[in-house]
Amino acid sequence: MANVVVVGAQWGDEGKGKIVDWLSSRADVICRFQGGHNAGHTLVIDGVVYKLHALPSGVVRSGKLSVIGNGVVLDPWHLVKEIETIRAQGVEITPETLMIAENTPLILPIHGELDRAREEAASKGAKIGTTGRGIGPAYEDKVGRRSVRVADLADRPTLEARVDRALAHHDALRRGLGLEPVDRAALIAQLEAISGEILQYAAPVWKVLNERRRAGSRILFEGAQGALLDVDFGTYPFVTSSNVIAGQAATGTGIGPGAIDFVLGIVKAYTTRVGEGPFPSELHDADGERLGARGHEFGTTTGRKRRCGWFDAVLVRQTCATSGVNGIALTKLDVLDGFERLKICVGYDLDGQRLDYLPTAADQQARCVPVYEEMEGWAESTEGARSWADLPGAAIKYVRRIEELIGCPVALLSTSPERDDTILVTDPFAD
Ligand code: GDP
Ligand code: IMO
Ligand code: MG
Repeated sequence: MANVVVVGAQWGDEGKGKIVDWLSSRADVICRFQGGHNAGHTLVIDGVVYKLHALPSGVVRSGKLSVIGNGVVLDPWHLVKEIETIRAQGVEITPETLMIAENTPLILPIHGELDRAREEAASKGAKIGTTGRGIGPAYEDKVGRRSVRVADLADRPTLEARVDRALAHHDALRRGLGLEPVDRAALIAQLEAISGEILQYAAPVWKVLNERRRAGSRILFEGAQGALLDVDFGTYPFVTSSNVIAGQAATGTGIGPGAIDFVLGIVKAYTTRVGEGPFPSELHDADGERLGARGHEFGTTTGRKRRCGWFDAVLVRQTCATSGVNGIALTKLDVLDGFERLKICVGYDLDGQRLDYLPTAADQQARCVPVYEEMEGWAESTEGARSWADLPGAAIKYVRRIEELIGCPVALLSTSPERDDTILVTDPFAD
């Protein structure tokens, strides 16, 4: 298999960063294809922690090309800071190792401001619980055909025209929200000041990827967020503003869908969610607290406490279908060590009827009562296990039951945050 897409198969934070970093040793090019710096991907290598938001998780490995594709929305000021932070950790980042698609839309300061103002103004029940990073407003401008894109930074008259187009919309919106009009001259000056830093990485990514592919390079596509946050297939409107599922890897970089050989879904051995929205298997008891404490479930980007619950096989079966997942990487199995009993959601009861999928209508979602199957837990530690033989029988049974319920095999198993505490079952890159 030459090209592998990695997607989150729940509500994000499944451990994509760790798995992408691990798989990067087998790839030549690592590409982000959607989302922005709302993502928080954590890598732990020999005890050193790297937190990546906009940069692809392959960036820490030398000799690889990291790519930010056009499907991403990019905050240039954030990126420059993140590059500095990661460089300070000893990672080399140069125009030879990082490339940004010229047609990538920019996140401007007005997008973050609007995102936060809307969240503040929203009544309880209407708040999304966004990361406040301007992701939604930046994507709105993209489809509204008023983005400033990376290529526009190279030419002053174009830049001014693009800014004017955006401000015609934003100033009207801001008036309604009681915000000051945008200082046009200051925004243009800010963009001009950052343009050199960004343009050194700008390239026609679609062309480079197609050429690299023909030359035999292996490409790893790194998803952000998770399929249940997908703008079409997620728990709308409590979603992010991009398509997150595997099909987006093609439109978010400019390779054809036929170039995707394997889709790896990243799946946490239980469920978490940050922000608002439905979560049928959420726990509000000591088990939930214990999952959060053992799993250190605090957001990488916002530091918010993540909501925790049992594994929901209905939802993962659904997301494996919408992304065409060929195999999963099951992460954080070690967090379940010591639970006497474990529950898996295997269906929903809706008004006395058994459902094997989450309905789309919000009122029906709210009335879905999870149907659980109980399994025996294990007392032994699985932390740091590096082979199947190191796992207790009950843990293997739990993993096998998940495979059966979601209809998809485990390709990788992760047993700690450390890069090498990973069990390989099927190599997604193997022919
Ligand atoms: P991502 O957004 O999908 O990349 O995931 P995050 O990095 O936001 O959150 C996953 C967290 O779990 C990080 O702190 C990882 O270091 C950690 N992690 C990843 N895999 C494992 C695992 O198998 N076991 C444990 N205990 N932690 C893990
Ligand atoms: P990674 O890549 C978990 C959630 C936010 C909020 C909703 C919309 O680390 O898995 P946004 O700022 O995108 O408009 O917020 O989506 N969200 C994430 N939750 N992990 C993420 O990324 C997320 N990115 C966005 O909490 O509920
Ligand atoms: Mg994360």
